Amino acid sequence: MRISLLFVSLLAIVPNAVLASVLAIDYGADFIKASLMKPGIPFDVLLNKDSKRKIHSSVAWKRGDRLFGQDAAYLATRFPSDTFSHLKYLQAAPHDSEPAAYFSKISPATVSQNDRFLTNLTRSDGTEWSTEELVAMQFAYIKHLAELVANEKVRDVIITVPGYYTQFERDAVADAVEVAGLRLLALINDGTAVAVNYAMTRAFPAPETHVIYDVGSSGIRATVVEFSTTTDKKTGATGTQINVLGFGSDKTVGGIEFDRRVREILADAFNAKQKGKDIRKDKRGMAKLWKEAQRVKGVLSANQDAVAHVESLAWDIDFKTKISRAAFEQACADLEPKFTQPLYDALKFAGLDLTNITSVIMAGGASRTPMVQAAIKTAVPADKLSFNVNADEAAVLGAALHGASLSRQFKTKNIKVLDILAHDVQATYFAAATTPLGRPRSITTTLFPAGSKVGTKKTMTFKRKDDFVINFDYKKEPLPGFPTRMFEVDINGVVEALQNLTDSGAVDPVVKATVSLSESGFIAVNQAIAYGEIKDESLTGKFKGLFGGSSTPESDESTEDIPPRPAASSRSADAKKEKKEEKKKVTGPVEIELPIYTRWTTVPPLTVEQKKAARDRLRAVDAEELAKSRREEARNNFESYLYRLRDLLSDESEDKPFIKCSQPAERQKLQELLEESFSWLNDRGDLAETSQLLDKRIALETLEKPVTHRYQEIEAFPQALNNSQMWNWNTRLFLAEARENLTAEAKADLPSKWTADELDSLEKALKDHESWLDEWVEKQKKVKANQDPVIETREMKARAKVLEQHLHRLYRRKVPKAVKKKTTTTTEPTSTANAEESTETEVPHANEKQVPLGDEGKPKTHDEL
Ligand SMILES: *[C@@H]1O[C@H](CO)[C@@H](O)[C@H](O)[C@H]1NC(C)=O
Ligand SMILES: *[C@@H]1O[C@H](CO)[C@@H](O)[C@H](O)[C@H]1NC(C)=O
Ligand SMILES: *[C@@H]1O[C@H](CO)[C@@H](O)[C@H](O)[C@H]1NC(C)=O
Ligand SMILES: *[C@@H]1O[C@H](CO)[C@@H](O)[C@H](O)[C@H]1NC(C)=O
Ligand SMILES: *[C@@H]1O[C@H](CO)[C@@H](O)[C@H](O)[C@H]1NC(C)=O
Repeated sequence: MRISLLFVSLLAIVPNAVLASVLAIDYGADFIKASLMKPGIPFDVLLNKDSKRKIHSSVAWKRGDRLFGQDAAYLATRFPSDTFSHLKYLQAAPHDSEPAAYFSKISPATVSQNDRFLTNLTRSDGTEWSTEELVAMQFAYIKHLAELVANEKVRDVIITVPGYYTQFERDAVADAVEVAGLRLLALINDGTAVAVNYAMTRAFPAPETHVIYDVGSSGIRATVVEFSTTTDKKTGATGTQINVLGFGSDKTVGGIEFDRRVREILADAFNAKQKGKDIRKDKRGMAKLWKEAQRVKGVLSANQDAVAHVESLAWDIDFKTKISRAAFEQACADLEPKFTQPLYDALKFAGLDLTNITSVIMAGGASRTPMVQAAIKTAVPADKLSFNVNADEAAVLGAALHGASLSRQFKTKNIKVLDILAHDVQATYFAAATTPLGRPRSITTTLFPAGSKVGTKKTMTFKRKDDFVINFDYKKEPLPGFPTRMFEVDINGVVEALQNLTDSGAVDPVVKATVSLSESGFIAVNQAIAYGEIKDESLTGKFKGLFGGSSTPESDESTEDIPPRPAASSRSADAKKEKKEEKKKVTGPVEIELPIYTRWTTVPPLTVEQKKAARDRLRAVDAEELAKSRREEARNNFESYLYRLRDLLSDESEDKPFIKCSQPAERQKLQELLEESFSWLNDRGDLAETSQLLDKRIALETLEKPVTHRYQEIEAFPQALNNSQMWNWNTRLFLAEARENLTAEAKADLPSKWTADELDSLEKALKDHESWLDEWVEKQKKVKANQDPVIETREMKARAKVLEQHLHRLYRRKVPKAVKKKTTTTTEPTSTANAEESTETEVPHANEKQVPLGDEGKPKTHDEL
């Protein structure tokens, strides 16, 4: 694509780093988009096997075969109960929640409540899969596609999620990632990812605020983002800072709801025509209508009318109807206010209005729908509407860039992101009773209000004497049917720890709990400690104590922000030091770590054991499929081998090599085994194991190979013989010339390259080779074509090679300290002749020159051939 070149220049490689690739996945309810960051590979969207840039978010089974992408999505028309699409709605959705109910409206899949109060999906063969497992299969499929491109294992992944995703849904995504055998680098809010993509090719000399308005298949998200330029004080390098300021969303509109509305129109039209029949009761028919509704919706985006046409929709009835854009928009009239509300909500969240906004950036596939655009155009002035990001791919490309910057292995354009939390999160606990008989008060604090910056921590301080529980809740039900309770944390060991601190001299020790909000939007209690300060016993210390406010404030408990990371790490270093000093009873802070235990009472993420079991289950499916494809390959190979053999045997004409080189008895045996193999393959081939197929093949090859071998030998013999003779000839030429030179040099008292012994030894080797060749060539002449050869061309070549090497050793020899006394110009007639000949011999691979054959070597062809 166009921008890929640009990206390459933004993306330089950090030298000397071990580079692993980073995969980005934008997992939508309808489509998956993925992108791979790997040095040397153009940065682009990952293509599936059909070179599609969008991959259907589907997994399906066609009898035993598992399919993905479009193959899977369209299988719904034939195997509706084995096709699983739109699973995004089920991520962490309690079985009785609104999203789960909506899923059942659009999906023919069989669902049931599982032991985590979520939804299991059942295949037609009765096997049950959790949503996480089915999503993990799709992640694993994308991983596999990426590995084909990367040509290496891919592990690190960044996944986009809607900004409004709760911790439950974020956990469901993270769990699926793990079950797929991937490692989660981060989750990134999809609006933020689009913002990163937008910032990639732009500079912001002055701060700008934009709204990313993203109409996806399962919801509308509006994200207010501020772009500005930062300058590193030390290096002077500039970068882009993206701050998220607000969210707005609607989870009930989107591309899929439009599809559903079109399908409703079509279903009504069918039922109206076919009295007494209800298409809605026919899973296959409804799947066919869904596919057609998607197509019709596309047509209506560009046209005022469309014709829906499904052959044999149900009961063998062909269905055809006309649908107008007006009728479609009429059917969606109630949705209209929902198109713009997220925009207003996001602005309100950020405390801004449209005048503060530079532009509204349209993203998401469904943002092209005319009625959505019409609604937005009434709300936003035309000059503030921007269509300059790739609506389908901006999120995944932005996510990939962000993932690459997180992995720190790539040097990417410096874009920093500061995201925020979408929902108010509060902590509730019982405060210690103020009087012995008093009732414990329940205290609730909004620990992380919506808009809290991610990547931060907070410390809660408690004046407690006993173990206690902190409950973490969403302030409001995040989605209809979703719980508000996130998790509960038990703080244990309080009594003993406080006692120890008091024993060490600490006055009024407290309990502190550190709660983090991670970059990916997860809230967790990281640590709880009992904390106290040992007061100085000196006078000044006492004064300090008096004025230092050891008197507790009205509220026992307090919450303070901890600046992110650096402070956190130095904190634990201090803690170690303090523990050492504790024994010496010096003054200062002391702390004891308390055991904490987190419980999920509503929608639990997968436990370590459950994840392992799911991973093993997926691995088993992979292994089974691999074995199956191996088996099929072996079966196909075996089958085509049988056909090839049958062809060899069927043409009995004498000039066919296979017939010529085989004896009737051999063919008879082979024929019998071949027939037996054919019928075995027909009867039991489908059930046969790979090893059985291989064994059967070997049995046939044992009979077939000798015949083929004879033929190959007959073919190879002339060449081998020629080669052997050529080396005989070369050696003989060399010897003649070398001996002459030796004699001449001895006469002239010149140094020689060889000794007479060495030449004798070569001559002996030559004679041996010649007589071996003569003997066996004679024997071979008597062998018939349908008998095994007595000498193998392999051996002929090996022996010729030995002679060749022997010759070369001498030939390449240098003249020892040749003091060339060319004073005497008495050129004997013989030496001139030698010189000429030797230029010829100097080409040891004398293939290109005509080598006369020796006396025994009248061109020897194998008579039988
Ligand atoms: C749901 O599917 C999971 C497999 O992931 C299985 O272990 C469980 O038994 C199924 N049924 C229930 C009721 O949880
Ligand atoms: C937003 O615009 C309003 C009215 O135009 C203005 O009063 C306000 O200061 C602006 N806020 C920001 C943050 O720029
Ligand atoms: C409290 O002190 C005792 C005795 O020094 C020690 O054995 C115990 O581990 C301490 N408990 C905690 C929670 O630090
Ligand atoms: C032997 O080799 C020579 C030279 O390469 C070639 O001309 C001749 O045809 C070959 N003979 C056979 C039988 O291969
Ligand atoms: C024999 O001597 C001549 C003349 O010195 C030289 O050109 C030729 O290469 C020699 N022959 C061999 C086989 O070394």
